[in-house]
Amino acid sequence: MHVVSTVAELRQRLDKQKSVAFVPTMGNLHAGHLHLVELAKQQAKCVVVSIFVNPLQFGANEDLANYPRTLEEDCEKLKLAGVDVVFTPTVETMYPTEQTILVEPPAIANDLCGASRPGHFRGVATVVLKLFNMVRPNVAVFGKKDFQQLFIIREMVKQLNLPIEIVAGETMREPDGLAMSSRNGYLLPGQRVEAQRLHRALQQVVDAIQGGNSDFPALESQTTQYLTQLGWVVDYIAIRSSHTLLPANAEDARLVVLGAARQGRTRLIDNIEFDLH
Ligand code: PAJ
Repeated sequence: MHVVSTVAELRQRLDKQKSVAFVPTMGNLHAGHLHLVELAKQQAKCVVVSIFVNPLQFGANEDLANYPRTLEEDCEKLKLAGVDVVFTPTVETMYPTEQTILVEPPAIANDLCGASRPGHFRGVATVVLKLFNMVRPNVAVFGKKDFQQLFIIREMVKQLNLPIEIVAGETMREPDGLAMSSRNGYLLPGQRVEAQRLHRALQQVVDAIQGGNSDFPALESQTTQYLTQLGWVVDYIAIRSSHTLLPANAEDARLVVLGAARQGRTRLIDNIEFDLH
């Protein structure tokens, strides 16, 4: 496995590769990331993983400075997983000058997570496009855990005619159902026990809808109230069309229920995609 941090080294390693599958990450890798690596291995002979904590996608009051950086352990895991190239650019390599050209994502980027994280998806789309141009992959793998991010990346690839196939990986979970996340490490022991309730609450919404309840606004506000009473600060609970991410209606065949809520200072997100009929 080669660990490279400049674009010149990266290009030198990749120039003779016929097919490349790419997994962009911010590091502090867990089984969710490694699941994406396994999918990438099924897609191409050469697998590239990037590790870059992207300042452009963090808001002023967010956890950029504290975001867990565990490069040595990450490289161990990637080596065991059979990754070919790890790309670990510095901030100066990614942003040698002020990034004044930005990818403006569609309006949906200001809804859901974008409503409480203004500019977040602009930062994500911009760094992902830059990484795509550096790695030049045939296939890129993203997790459904970040459903809105996956949606926006797919739109970017489609609308900008990028010659890249996007493959989606299922959400990997802890035994109690909590979606794996680098941010789970912030949780205090009591919060960690409570954290499983977000997934359970989303599953209850799915069960209610599949059981015939079609009052989506009521389900959203009841779930918000339920979690709030238990001490969560809820950003949103939303029932959407999985195809458009717009508010769901009875004609949508495939839906997704998404939630974002805080336990103390830790913001957790999760979602479940399901069939209405
Ligand atoms: P990061 O949070 O490190 O996630 C990297 C990839 O792993 C994303 O595609 C994410 O959806 C996926 N992932 C995270 N948790 C997962 C889980 N429990 N199961 C399956 N996949 C999971 O997402 C980012 O980094 C950044 O925004 C990035 C795309 C790298 C741009 O900076």
